[in-house]
Amino acid sequence: MAMDSLMKEHWNKIYSSRDINKLGWYEEVPEPSVRLLSKCHINKEEFVLDVGAGASTFIDYLINQGFSNVIATDISEIALDKLKERLGTEKASKVRWIVDDITQPIYIQGLRDISVWHDRAVLHFLLKENQQQEYLSTLKKVIKKGGYVIIAAFSLEGAKKCSGLDVKNYDQNMLAKFLGGEFSLLEYFNYTHYMPSGEPRPYIYTLFQKN
Ligand SMILES: C[S@@+](CC[C@H](N)C(=O)[O-])C[C@H]1O[C@@H](n2cnc3c(N)ncnc32)[C@H](O)[C@@H]1O
Repeated sequence: MAMDSLMKEHWNKIYSSRDINKLGWYEEVPEPSVRLLSKCHINKEEFVLDVGAGASTFIDYLINQGFSNVIATDISEIALDKLKERLGTEKASKVRWIVDDITQPIYIQGLRDISVWHDRAVLHFLLKENQQQEYLSTLKKVIKKGGYVIIAAFSLEGAKKCSGLDVKNYDQNMLAKFLGGEFSLLEYFNYTHYMPSGEPRPYIYTLFQKN
């Protein structure tokens, strides 16, 4: 079985059990992602891949802005179904939907020429070296030369767990080391996300470009 079925079950359960706007990571406006996207010199026909998109409002933003090659992937088909539902049929039909596990990807592997790889709060769940390496080799395979990588993760001061799972905390240097010499760090900032409960969640946001 290619997909990590325990993880899939875990996330499907979470997305089934709560309204998507009550989830801890829900953002009404994905402001920090938009801020970094605005630094990417791309046109609206280029491929933008959201890894572990869940039910993220970043997808709504991209479609509303007229991006025409948006790819939303997640291990949880329930998350993507809820996102489709919020978007409505017309907008949802403009997105390419891929249910895949980024640590054992099947379909994502086949993508090429991605101009923006966006990951908010996904990499930090990958605790095992081989999961991180699979993520990285997939990223390197699909991203085009000069393409951008936006990664947001819980910062070193941030929470050690999310939705019952342990996370690996990062800073910009760790992410730069992880991506390696082929990628240049263009920008980074700390950002505190406030969960619907009001609790703060400190993140590090980074923007890299493939040389
Ligand atoms: C904290 S949520 C963030 C969702 C979204 N990026 C956002 O900002 O709203 C983490 C997401 O990663 C997805 N995920 C977790 N492990 C994954 C994996 N191995 N492959 C693909 N997606 C995964 C989960 O289903 C969930 O939607």
